[in-house]
Amino acid sequence: MKTPLSNKTILLIVTGGIAAYKSLDLVRKLKDAGASVSCVLTQGGAQFVTPLALATLSGEPVSTDLFSPEQEQRLGHIRLSRQADLIVVAPATANTLAKMAHGLADNLASAVLLASNKPILIAPAMNSQMWASPATQANIATLQTRGIHQVGPASGMLACGEIGEGRMAEPDEILQAITALLAPAAGPLAGRKALVTSGPTYEPIDPVRFIGNRSSGKQGHAIAAALAALGAEVTLVTGPTALPAPAGVPQTIAIQTAREMLDACLCHGPYDIAVCAAAVADWRPATESECKIKKEGEAAPTFSLTENPDILATLSQAVPNRPRLVIGFAAETDNVLDHAKAKFARKGCDWILANKVGAGQGFGQDSNEVTLIRRNADGSLAATPWPAASKQALAQKLAKAVAEALE
Ligand code: CTP
Repeated sequence: MKTPLSNKTILLIVTGGIAAYKSLDLVRKLKDAGASVSCVLTQGGAQFVTPLALATLSGEPVSTDLFSPEQEQRLGHIRLSRQADLIVVAPATANTLAKMAHGLADNLASAVLLASNKPILIAPAMNSQMWASPATQANIATLQTRGIHQVGPASGMLACGEIGEGRMAEPDEILQAITALLAPAAGPLAGRKALVTSGPTYEPIDPVRFIGNRSSGKQGHAIAAALAALGAEVTLVTGPTALPAPAGVPQTIAIQTAREMLDACLCHGPYDIAVCAAAVADWRPATESECKIKKEGEAAPTFSLTENPDILATLSQAVPNRPRLVIGFAAETDNVLDHAKAKFARKGCDWILANKVGAGQGFGQDSNEVTLIRRNADGSLAATPWPAASKQALAQKLAKAVAEALE
């Protein structure tokens, strides 16, 4: 059977971070997707996973040593760097990123990376302070200007017990980024254009304050990546998030307000598919103060609010350029299905994914549980519950369903 990564060769470089254990799963997933995988393991990486585990899963000998005559003779660092279609560094530690940015070649991994003329994808993984440090950020900026691809890091609980940004992207997400890079136009959505909205909107009160919400953008960004992985040409319009642009998505438009989001959605296209995953603020302050509002007297300030445009409803009605498939979310805290069905009718979209949000669910989480609501051929409503899954897995399922619907 032809799989997305058939005939593709990946060189996976595993460096020294606790996330290395996830790289074992990545190797398995890459093999399942049809890729040939060979691995380079650094000394640091070998503190967390063994060469034997990587060799067993990949079915190839693992290279560890720049100065081993036996390894250099079998597959020298130049050949290692040339034979792959893509080099993936997962986990990529702060130390390895620094070496890459500065052109060091003091171990096999860094020598291979320096000698490479192939695309490189990094999956950074480290403590959040190390990630946020000006040194690491400068190194990342340097690598980005050199066209190095990046997936993650995600936010969440880190192995050191701190909470923050620095967790390696999940193997599914890395696989998706690899597929998007190596087989972008091979999927069932090749030739289709897709629009995805993601993240919150910020509605300014004054130059320093805004009305916003807790949307992290994780679900919308994952959907953009999943559609791209199936070959769609995706435009992502996103409010402020901490996430990097998803791999394989050629156009990411960053906006702040709902009105800017609507403009960005309407000024490109037309699209075959639109997925509105953004948590758009329903209202904005009727006026934006030019100066910071000061505490004057005892009384708290009052605001009058005015309604924002509804992007999902607008796209659902955009005749003659209406996308063939318009999909929305219904974020509800209570009576989820009833509210979602009412929203489905009100918005005029083709599918709606109902999900429960609030305390520990939906917003900001890494997993999601939704019910897909759409119309049967006879006009009746069908509600199909999808089991709880990671936001990436849910995005992949949605992208697959979209591809089937547009066949
Ligand atoms: N949406 C949109 N533009 C808006 C409001 C919502 O495009 N101004 C989209 C969202 O991206 C989502 C869907 O509409 O796909 C439903 O959003 P939700 O926040 O659940 O519902 P609201 O329309 O805001 O309705 P309510 O606040 O009554 O739940």
